[in-house]
Parts: sequence; structure tokens; C-alpha cells
Amino acid sequence: MARPRVLSGVQPTGALHLGNWLGAIRNWVDLQKSHETFFCVVDLHAITVPHDPAQLAEDTLKTAALYLACGIDPELSTVFVQSQVGAHSELCWLLNCVTPLNWLERMIQFKEKAVKQGDQVSVGLLDYPVLMAADILLYGADLVPVGEDQKQHLELARDIAQQRINSRFGKKDETGEPIPVLTVPEPLILKAGARVMSLTDGNSKMSKSDPNEGSRINLLDPPELIVKKVKRAKTDPTMGLEFGNQERPEAENLLSLYALLSGKGMEAAAQECASMGWGTFKPLLAEVAVEALRPLQQRYGELRADPGHLNDVLRQGQARASAVAQATLERVRHALGFLPGPTAT
Ligand code: TRP
Repeated sequence: MARPRVLSGVQPTGALHLGNWLGAIRNWVDLQKSHETFFCVVDLHAITVPHDPAQLAEDTLKTAALYLACGIDPELSTVFVQSQVGAHSELCWLLNCVTPLNWLERMIQFKEKAVKQGDQVSVGLLDYPVLMAADILLYGADLVPVGEDQKQHLELARDIAQQRINSRFGKKDETGEPIPVLTVPEPLILKAGARVMSLTDGNSKMSKSDPNEGSRINLLDPPELIVKKVKRAKTDPTMGLEFGNQERPEAENLLSLYALLSGKGMEAAAQECASMGWGTFKPLLAEVAVEALRPLQQRYGELRADPGHLNDVLRQGQARASAVAQATLERVRHALGFLPGPTAT
């Protein structure tokens, strides 16, 4: 039996932080052995808001190198850059033409991002979820690991695949069974406890877009900076760290970071820190964060010191991804009535 397929991606904007690692990439690493995995750097998504061309390529390489440094293994997974596989843009156009405008206008993330930009909002920002649907559908992904904030986008990808492509353009076999053009993906809900919150507000998610640098620990932050950020992290006046107290979101978040980064697990961490004051706990947390990131930063440094190798990995990823993506694209082109495309065999 073929292993179920998984696809996910991260935008190369801003630095990857502990939330991206503990909440997403670390789980991808586990999936590599049991699933057929595709991980892309979604650089086309990065230009849906104003971007700096001098930064884009560097940020793309940085993100790809961080995937590898976190343990994504190019022998087990297909690691690639979205814009280097032309099928993403092409399928996006085909899907655009069957997706109702009002499905996009009601996307929560679009509405939130759009208010910040006023009359400068690009068509691309509105179209963001259709491009994401193309990313997923091109690889016939069965499962997509997503956080809470991306669930609505995944739902959209499912609706486009099922209601707009399969049911309108799919054929039936001799027994009358529909032959799907596209695989309808399911969300893969990740383990609980991996939702990392901001260091300055235990009620909001650790985010790349938070203007306060102190709210997050980036994977490439040097040890001194990590110590400083932990020292300044928001606390409360209560002694002792604990889980499950709704009034103490900061204690919950920092203790859970300690449990994850030390590898001790929730129970042992909760016991160890039950009567600890913040002044004792914080240096401990800073130390496990520094130690957990040390090997990752070391591998990252090695990868960036050998650009030829990274380039080879991405070229190989591009070739493997293109082969899968082109086959899907050709099926959709055919279903929609186009002449065969340039790579049709
Ligand atoms: N929108 C996703 C995010 O911001 C990134 C993304 C783009 C993605 N294409 C994807 C995630 C396909 C999963 C699958 O997190």
C-alpha cells in the first residue's frame, strides 16, 4: 500500500521561531518515516504583501536550510521551492476560474490582513487561499498538517477539489463510480501542547508578524539574546509553575515550553517546577532553549557554508515535485477541456 501523502509549507517571510518548530516542523520530521512527504518554501505566497526583492531569495534559502537543520531529510522528503515548480501558478489560474469570489471574500485571514493595508490590498492577497489549494491539490495530498489559523484555508481547498472540480468535471467509470480528478485532502490535527504562545502575552500565538521581537524566540537567535528574551518574558505574581490554570496563561506557556525543550514531558516538568519562583525557573528555561537550539544552529551554519549542497537538494526536490505536479496539472487540463500541455506524454 502506498503511504499517505502529506504536504505542508511555510512562507519565507520573517524568521522561523519556536512556534514554527515545536508546532509544525518538528511534527513533519516524525511524519517522514510513515508518510510520503512534500515540504515546500512558499515564496509565491510571500509576495501577497509588499516584499523586498533584495531579501526574497536569501529568505527562501534560509527557510529551506532551516527545514533541513530541523531534521527534514531530503532522502525521505521532497523539499522544494514553490516558485521553482511552475505548475503551482498554472493550477492556481485554473482553480481561480472555478472559485466563487465570495468564498475568498469571507476568508478570515484575508479580512484581517486587508484592513491593515487599506486600498493597497493586492489581488494576490485575496487569491492566497487558491494558491494554497493548488499547492495541496497538485501533490494529491491526503493529509495537510495545519494549525487553527489555516483550517479555513484547508476547508476551501477541499471545497474547490470536491464541489468545483470533481463533481463538475469528473467522469464516471463503467460501473457509474465517479473518478476523482483531484484528491480531497483532510486536515491533520497536530498533537496538543504544541501551540506556542507569545512571550509577552500568554493569550496570543507566537507570531512572525508581532512587531515586538521580544515576543518570540527565533531559531537562529544567539544564546545571549535567548537569555535576554526569556528574562523579559511576561510573568505573573504567583509562585510556582503549573498547567491548567486559566488565570495564568504565561505560566502555562512557559512551563509547556520547558517541558517540550527539555524533552522531560509535561508531567515531570510540572512536578519539577511546581514550587519554583520565576527567578529560578527563567534561567532554567533559557538554558534548555539554548541547548535545544544549539545542534540546530550548528547544522544550519554547516548548510549555509556549503551553498552547492543546498542548491543540489533544492534542484532534486524541484525535479521530484515537478514530476508529480505536472501529472496532476495535466489531468486537470484534460478534465477542463484543454489541449495537452507542453509536458504531456
Ligand atoms: N498559508 C500557510 C501558512 O501561512 C502556508 C502554506 C502555503 C501552506 N501553502 C500551503 C500550508 C500548503 C500547508 C499547505 O501557514
